[in-house]
Amino acid sequence: MKKKVISTRNIFLFLAVIFIGIQFYRPNKNIQDDASYNDFLKTENAPEHISNLFKNSCYNCHSNTTDYYWYDNISPASWYVDNHIVEAKSELNFSKWKHIDYRTKRVHLSNIATNITDNKMPIPSYTFMHPDAKLSKEQIAQILEWIGTIEVN
Ligand code: HEC
Repeated sequence: MKKKVISTRNIFLFLAVIFIGIQFYRPNKNIQDDASYNDFLKTENAPEHISNLFKNSCYNCHSNTTDYYWYDNISPASWYVDNHIVEAKSELNFSKWKHIDYRTKRVHLSNIATNITDNKMPIPSYTFMHPDAKLSKEQIAQILEWIGTIEVN
């Protein structure tokens, strides 16, 4: 009698081995001790409620300190999360704000305003997993108002 090689059990075992194997390939964590020195919210003296909004809705991707959820550590989710962080920071890193030249700061501020007004940020796949990061109309208005008061130099 021939033994069946491709059984449901073997497929399951094969997938389990792969899943365990990829856990050894986790990206480095995006947590840096010096993240606050040149920080946006600190440099621009953001009031606390505004700081909280940015930290809760933007900083996990756009800064040097990500507050990871437990499932963010599990590959392949960890790759997906890391990809977003790398891409987001290459566009805008709030932890490096202080030393960005003033023209670029102005561009960033206007991009922040349009992105939140159009509900493009935080990105929908993120608010799907983290509904509390979604900005309400009122919160968007508060951020826009505060951004209008910033004088960059
Ligand atoms: C889940 C990760 C994530 C979160 C959270 C997030 N972003 Fe982004 N952001 C990205 C990625 C990825 C890009 C680059 C790709 C793109 O533009 O879609 C980006 C791009 C941007 C850009 C540049 C886009 C442009 O072309 O002007 C701005 C500005 C921005 N984000 C602001 C914000 C603000 C403000 C928040 C919080 C309200 C936020 N983001 C939250 C991932 C994120």
